[in-house]
Amino acid sequence: MVRVSKWVALLTVILFSLSIIAGCGGGGTPAPTAPVEEIKIGLIAPLTGDVKTFGESVKNAFELAIEESGHKVGDFNIKYVIADDRNVATEAVNVADKLITQDKVSAIVGSVTSSCTIPISEVAQAAGVVVISPTATNPKVTVDGGKRKDYIFRACFIDPFQGTVAARFALDELGAKTAAVLFDQGNDYTIGLKDYFKEAFVAGGGQVVAEEAYAKTDTDFSAVLTRIAQLKPDVLFLPDYYQKVSLIGKQARDKGITATFLGGDGWDSPEIDWTAMDGGYFTNHYSPEDPRPEVKEWVDKYTAKYGQTPDALATLAYDATKLLLAAIEKAGSKDPAAIRDAMASIEGFQAVSGSISFDENGNPIKSAVILQIKDGAQKFVTIVNP
Ligand code: PHE
Repeated sequence: MVRVSKWVALLTVILFSLSIIAGCGGGGTPAPTAPVEEIKIGLIAPLTGDVKTFGESVKNAFELAIEESGHKVGDFNIKYVIADDRNVATEAVNVADKLITQDKVSAIVGSVTSSCTIPISEVAQAAGVVVISPTATNPKVTVDGGKRKDYIFRACFIDPFQGTVAARFALDELGAKTAAVLFDQGNDYTIGLKDYFKEAFVAGGGQVVAEEAYAKTDTDFSAVLTRIAQLKPDVLFLPDYYQKVSLIGKQARDKGITATFLGGDGWDSPEIDWTAMDGGYFTNHYSPEDPRPEVKEWVDKYTAKYGQTPDALATLAYDATKLLLAAIEKAGSKDPAAIRDAMASIEGFQAVSGSISFDENGNPIKSAVILQIKDGAQKFVTIVNP
């Protein structure tokens, strides 16, 4: 008996000491878990400069999408870094370089314009970092001389489609026979869109009576517009961004040009000259008047947060960010190669701007809308399926 109680006493002492060691920190403390890993995402957009309303919309929508995710994707906490390219190609390369080498992002949403996104795509492809541009429509964003840049994707249609839609609309709906075209000779987007429009317009029996180049810094178009006024074209095609087309449009009317103005997605800004451009038509990616419930829900929540109707840039940036998060979740990894593969395999993703599946070049096949600038607002005219 005595021996047993001696062992019991010893055991009690041991157990007592162990409970003191285990109990330090207080009773009821949960077992420590592994720290949650972080995934870094970059956003590049023109937050200042000549197309700053594009950048503002894209940033708003990107942040809204991240906020809705609870700053989480799969098992990762999201950390994001925002950079301004000012719509200057050299700056776009600088900030892409910084996001990749210093911030070590796994993926980038951006940029907005084709002239900035093409050089970004080259840097990111070489570094093996995923890029999804919400809005850059030039084919060269995802393909380089026929070779696919497989880390690069976009959430929008491309300019061969957009240019064809504009040309067919001019021929079939406006009954146009002649067109004059002005374009920025240093801008990939305007050069491409001009070429695709011209090709489809001529193929459909139309005639391009003037094709005039200008430089980004030009502000006086009177010489060119005087010539065009004499040619009396049915349409004046202006494939540039809102600031430049507003300037050209105003000067064209001052010269007595009565042609219908026509353009592309670059017109989509609250800062377009509503008076000068009144009556003009442009191709775009979405209309807030689309009756689909997902569009209504999106317009309501964006308007509630930012006090304005989301434009196509906001809508595509929201879709691009959601797509990227879906790809990261599917990959279950922050390795860009895994995210790239997951992104490429996404099919029928229900985005606000329509259903998204990628073709072999990372381009979604989507419909376009035609909007008219009328009485200070954008009016829905028609939708064109691919
Ligand atoms: N598509 C334009 C480009 O490639 C960018 C843009 C998209 C502008 C949508 C406005 C609206 O440069």
